[in-house]
Amino acid sequence: MSLIGLQNDSKDDLLDYLDLAEDFIDDEGEVCTPERYRDALSGRSVGHLFFEPSTRTRVSFEYATDRLGGYSLFLSEKDSSVKKGETVLDTCRNLIAMGFDGLVIRHNDRHLPYTIADRIDLPIINAGNGTGEHPTQALLDAMTLRRAFDRPSGDLSGKRVAIIGDIVHSRVARSDVYALQKLGADVVLAGPSMLLPNQDEEGWEAERAESRREALEGADAVIMLRIQNERIHGDVIDTNSFIRDWGINQYVVEEEMEPHTVILHPGPVIRGVELTGEVADGPRSLIFDQVTIGVAIRQAVLYRILGR
Ligand code: CP
Repeated sequence: MSLIGLQNDSKDDLLDYLDLAEDFIDDEGEVCTPERYRDALSGRSVGHLFFEPSTRTRVSFEYATDRLGGYSLFLSEKDSSVKKGETVLDTCRNLIAMGFDGLVIRHNDRHLPYTIADRIDLPIINAGNGTGEHPTQALLDAMTLRRAFDRPSGDLSGKRVAIIGDIVHSRVARSDVYALQKLGADVVLAGPSMLLPNQDEEGWEAERAESRREALEGADAVIMLRIQNERIHGDVIDTNSFIRDWGINQYVVEEEMEPHTVILHPGPVIRGVELTGEVADGPRSLIFDQVTIGVAIRQAVLYRILGR
């Protein structure tokens, strides 16, 4: 069993992860690992191959592995023989030969996790594949929302979620669309026209809004996304126009948002661009709840895929 994307997962598959992850959050909302899970990965080795930068995903996967009693190995491009020309597929084959039991992979090639999963007989967990998918981020976003909306069943019907910013380059947005729609939410996408994908491209069958005000109208939650400059070649986005038209400051919170709208962001937050510091740290922000829940989700994913 692998987890590459959420496109083909059912609502029940998603709920299996979310329900299991609830076991890893205590009554105070903090990460926990109940006794019965502490040896779940005992004797199991997980390779964490991160060929793009990461703070939240990398640390939480390693931490989750350790909390379940597994062995974690971290490998980056610059510290591995990929730097000398070896293919990532061969790197994976070498880890299998050493006895590793599962691989968590982040890479800028959106085809890579599929290729690896096709060619090697080992569970693969996608930690972000270029502009493809980021399934564990979408699971943690869904869990953050179901807790914020007090919907323990996980059904998000009747809830409206706006995703604003650089949509076209965002693997988070694509996985969020798959996950949130399967759970019943209405999703609306908004951002500069050059950062919006074609509606007929896979994964983007969602409502569009022409402006921030239109996107925020009636929204129960907004997920803000940074401009992914590392994926933009050619036309440069004017940051000041982005801040003016799509960024959220305290004035926008008060004038354009519903009184109950909560704010999410997968991170890294570029303070002063998609959100001001005041809003990112304000009472509607669930940004650090997402990070906490991220550890729980990754424990659930590792347990379900690799646990004894
Ligand atoms: N949300 C997310 O993927 O953050 P990192 O790039 O820091 O892992």
